[in-house]
Amino acid sequence: MCGIVGVLGKHEVSPLLVEALKRLEYRGYDSAGIATVDDGHLDRRRAVGKLINLSDTLVRDPLPGKSGIGHTRWATHGAPTEVNAHPHRAGPVAVVHNGIIENFETLRAELKAQNFGAETDTDTETIALLAQSYLEDGATPDEAVAQTLQRLEGAFALAFLFDGYDDLMIAARRGSPLAISLDDGEAYVGSDAIALAPMTDHLTYLEEGDWAVLTRNSVQIYDAHNQPVERPSEPITPEAGRVEKGGHRHWMAKEIAEQPAVLDQALQHYIRDADLVMPNDAVDFAKVNRVVMVACGTAYYACHVAKYWIERLANLPVEVDVASEFRYREPPIPEGTLAVFVSQSGETADTLAALNYCKGKCPIVAVVNVEGSSIARAADVVLPILAGREIGVASTKAFTCQLAVLAVLALKAARDRGTLTGEQMDAHLDTLTRIPALIAQALNIEDELRDIARDLSEARDILFLGRGAMYPLALEGALKLKEISYIHAEGYASGELKHGPIALVDDSVPVIVFAPTDPLFGKTVSNMQEVMARGGKVVLVSDTQGLSSQRATWHTAQMPDVAELWAPILYAVPAQLLAYHTAIAKGTDVDQPRNLAKSVTVE
Ligand code: M6R
Repeated sequence: MCGIVGVLGKHEVSPLLVEALKRLEYRGYDSAGIATVDDGHLDRRRAVGKLINLSDTLVRDPLPGKSGIGHTRWATHGAPTEVNAHPHRAGPVAVVHNGIIENFETLRAELKAQNFGAETDTDTETIALLAQSYLEDGATPDEAVAQTLQRLEGAFALAFLFDGYDDLMIAARRGSPLAISLDDGEAYVGSDAIALAPMTDHLTYLEEGDWAVLTRNSVQIYDAHNQPVERPSEPITPEAGRVEKGGHRHWMAKEIAEQPAVLDQALQHYIRDADLVMPNDAVDFAKVNRVVMVACGTAYYACHVAKYWIERLANLPVEVDVASEFRYREPPIPEGTLAVFVSQSGETADTLAALNYCKGKCPIVAVVNVEGSSIARAADVVLPILAGREIGVASTKAFTCQLAVLAVLALKAARDRGTLTGEQMDAHLDTLTRIPALIAQALNIEDELRDIARDLSEARDILFLGRGAMYPLALEGALKLKEISYIHAEGYASGELKHGPIALVDDSVPVIVFAPTDPLFGKTVSNMQEVMARGGKVVLVSDTQGLSSQRATWHTAQMPDVAELWAPILYAVPAQLLAYHTAIAKGTDVDQPRNLAKSVTVE
């Protein structure tokens, strides 16, 4: 979380920094700020809340200078106030930071004893104070940064500017991603390609522990041991530069609507001429006897769905865990394990740490949307989900594309292990390739879902139920709803309700049931009856046959028929649309919900 950018330019840099921060706002929007050096004079402007407030501040109080750094914040240490906003300054040093300095309390106490007192509640200010203390001891800016970095514990991507230095910017990374570029007499630093795409067409990604000294015409990268190193430069993909809502009111609406197209694209990448196509070095499941799947949030629910598929199709045990637990649990990784990490951004700190735990212990597959991301770079095999850039904080098209790629992976496992006949495999591949068209049909029930959402928006609590592979979808439906509408929502396995949660049910609690007609449909109906008997207001999302057998539900939503195994991909659409329209009815900020950020690069 938090986005950082830095430019040593030929022209006034404030507009460039603000434009880049706009592209980074998906990383946090609690506050924003920039600092520049103008004729050797370091100064800064900061504002609480979204970037527009910083833009307003700059109109009232412009900040000249051709060298600058900028930051958009997702608060970790200290409330989102102006004083806690980046860039942080201590004497001649300004710094922007993405990450967490874990030993900042110790450092702060030490600095205070040396009369370098802190003015903010942040961990970041400690970095500026440390650098200031080394400068005052006679160090050059490079030496001061090198000494500062040695004292820091935790994760960081940093960009420094110095009073008196118009042509100097220093960048550093440990744990959080950072890219740099030198292009036609200008130098750039940014959290990702998205920030820098309009300014340059190539990037160098700093590696773990690297730091770099940039001027307009030179760059020197050092590794974690302060040894000069070379790092490759890579072209920026055209995709990184494209950010348009295409006439939609929200990014989330655009991304929901794009699903038939992007899913089709993803499936065509892996299924060609009615056959599975995987990278040459993709894992051989015949040699695997256990799969571990690790992710966070929506990506975790995608893994949870895939567990049902892989176990059923390939007769292979699958363990699914959230990354924040897995990374510290130190689970055994016996021979024959395959680890699969799923992440839209490819930058989620917990997922990356979990991957690093598995590194060297077993083969690692990454299912990611951002192909140049840290998780993709650290994996043995990368399976891109090809969803295109996802900007809305609530993940939608990435979820369905993750499911599509995991479905293909499950079929690959089945093929390698010989658990399906040729006819069964053909039938599954055929059904999967028809899913994008079914999703297009499902999008046609948006008006009905909008009406249901209007009623849902009155509720204080909402429950979601599903059985089998629809259970993780109930979890995903609840997550989607709560993150953008702020209504309390929980997902449960239908059969689990009577073991406690049914105590919550009364006539004020809507219960949304995802139940395509499948062998377990009758059991889900019994659970629904138990809810209705207690006054619960059931919203049944099912197909023609499922709905025809049911009466007395509060609302229904009719979905196209779909092969039961792959139904979670299709039923993600009503889950997303219900959340979206409930949020609209409540008037919340759909694309940038409170307290959240798109890319979670801190623990
Ligand atoms: O980028 P990742 O897929 O690793 O992100 C994981 C979660 O942070 C993410 O899915 C989050 O739960 C979404 N906001 C849910 O809509």
